Amino acid sequence: MAPNSYSLATRLPLPLATNNNLTIPAIHLGVYLMSSREASRAVRAALSSGYRAIDSAQMYRNERDCGKAISDWLGDSSLNTAGLRREDIFFTSKLASNSTDYDTVRNSIRQSIKTCGLGYIDLFLLHSPYGGKQARLTSWRAVEDAVADGEIKIGGVSNFGVKHLEELVASKPQTLPAVNQIEVHPFNTRTGITEFCQSKGIVVEAYAPLARALRMKHPVIAELSRKYSCTPAQLMVRWSLQHGFVPLPKSVSEERIRANGRVESFEIEGGDMQKMDGLDEYLVTDWDPVDAP
Ligand SMILES: NC(=O)c1ccc[n+]([C@@H]2O[C@H](COP(=O)([O-])OP(=O)(O)OC[C@H]3O[C@@H](n4cnc5c(N)ncnc54)[C@H](OP(=O)(O)O)[C@@H]3O)[C@@H](O)[C@H]2O)c1
Repeated sequence: MAPNSYSLATRLPLPLATNNNLTIPAIHLGVYLMSSREASRAVRAALSSGYRAIDSAQMYRNERDCGKAISDWLGDSSLNTAGLRREDIFFTSKLASNSTDYDTVRNSIRQSIKTCGLGYIDLFLLHSPYGGKQARLTSWRAVEDAVADGEIKIGGVSNFGVKHLEELVASKPQTLPAVNQIEVHPFNTRTGITEFCQSKGIVVEAYAPLARALRMKHPVIAELSRKYSCTPAQLMVRWSLQHGFVPLPKSVSEERIRANGRVESFEIEGGDMQKMDGLDEYLVTDWDPVDAP
């Protein structure tokens, strides 16, 4: 892997044949816990820094702010100097909470599209496996139909454990989720889930890729940041990319947004990747639905 293979402009192929050669940007800006004002400013800063993907959710209550900031940025020729269009930006949203019934999911997707004002959603995720087996399978069928009807480009899941994915595979769906978005960072490597996803051609999106800034001063992180002349956040983003994950670093600071995406100038050596893998302590920074019944 060439050291410069992951710039903000990199798009990765989605491995499933069913996804019609669609691609996904390598790094997304996460916008969880951002107020309206913060989300608008962060999206604008991210797009100006070269990000092409924003990760929102119904639960974050900032789909409207993100969508408007994207549209405004695209329409402002002093910012959008490359003349990018809607299709050059990748917008993700997620179902409000639990998996549920068919009509609720379909209506909820249509509501998200209306709220963000972007015409369609690139990636829509079932936010969690909560709700039980029947709700998961029905909700997934609703996502598949929304893709078939052109409302969303790609369907995926979030916080699904191996058990939930196996259950979906066993139900013989028309397509598998293209993405499983889970908490992954060196302090919670979730190898069982990531290996299962990668074996099935499901892209792992890494949420909380910076471990919510809880381990920035860890001695191994500090030592390797010095070695690679990068920040702890850049080291963790790079670790994620080198594992083949799609990291979603969040920041409200323009400077940190820009820096978090600048990871093309170094490559973590194999032994150092292993050292970082060894930091696993099952650190959960938010909720942890992967074992939900
Ligand atoms: N699907 C799910 O269930 C789920 C759950 C959680 C998160 N997510 C997604 O994943 C995204 C990222 O996760 P996250 O927001 O929980 O955590 P994160 O990205 O790991 O960490 C964000 C924290 O790190 C700080 N930070 C950012 N850059 C930094 C830097 N260079 N140096 C020091 N501190 C820095 C941020 O503060 P500042 O903002 O002040 O910079 C913030 O406190 C979310 O925004 C969301 O889109 C999804």
